[in-house]
Amino acid sequence: MFRRRDRIQYKTPEQIRTMRAAGLVVAEVHQAMRESAGPGVSTAELDRIAEEVIRSSGAVPSFKGYDIGFGPYPASICSSVNEQVVHAIPARDAVLREGDLLSVDVGAIVDGWHGDAAITIEIGEVAPELTALREACEASMWAGIRAAATAKRLGGISHAVEHSVERSGEYGIVTGFGGHGIGTEMHQDPHILNYGRPGEGPKLRPGMALAIEPMITLGSPDTAELEDGWTIVTDDGSVAAHTEHTIALCEDGVWVLTAPDGGVEQLGELAASAARAE
Ligand code: MF3
Ligand code: CO
Repeated sequence: MFRRRDRIQYKTPEQIRTMRAAGLVVAEVHQAMRESAGPGVSTAELDRIAEEVIRSSGAVPSFKGYDIGFGPYPASICSSVNEQVVHAIPARDAVLREGDLLSVDVGAIVDGWHGDAAITIEIGEVAPELTALREACEASMWAGIRAAATAKRLGGISHAVEHSVERSGEYGIVTGFGGHGIGTEMHQDPHILNYGRPGEGPKLRPGMALAIEPMITLGSPDTAELEDGWTIVTDDGSVAAHTEHTIALCEDGVWVLTAPDGGVEQLGELAASAARAE
């Protein structure tokens, strides 16, 4: 399953189908988040709902208890508001307000296989530049996903994300964090930068599963970590957006495992037949 040289876990079609099941649980949580998030709602309440959706599907929340060496993560989602970029811990006193930009990141495990994805949600009516920021982030993720279907090497994905962000406007591309391989663990090789050159990195091959996750800001690309050991904020206090999908590279195209339609609408001919056959 691992090729010794690149430490990448290559999945069989059957394993990818199990990852699809995990991806659909994540997609269901996203839908619940879109329906529940609004002015006056706390991020702790969103976390409660998310965990309920995950467990009632028979899945396990992958973030809860996740430990990168500083103690277990205490929740089932990351809920990052405005200048928070990623990994913000849900809290009772983090009450959403009209005009906020919220990113919700969710992970679920089914039969040992992971799905991981994030959406950025507008709370009530937001400033036009926040809508543009959200849309630029989503567009760059899809550019990266399309590149995963056409590029030869991982750097092609990174390059496509970067190029898309630059085409959209004057945004900071967060450099400290990026996407990753995913499978029987949430974070696997390779690390996926959101900027780079097409010729760089390992070859893209069928059986790879990747989480593509651009994070962009209205200002500086630099970030800082809060004292809780998790929350990442922009250095300059500018608002950030974050979107993520888990995808699988199949023999005949890409399957967006955390998208309800498998990515068919966005990818068209580039979508794997397994996605189109659902
Ligand atoms: N989706 C997040 C990422 O890839 C994972 C959150 S880690 C947790 O960075 F610890 F916060 F759960
Ligand atoms: Co991720």
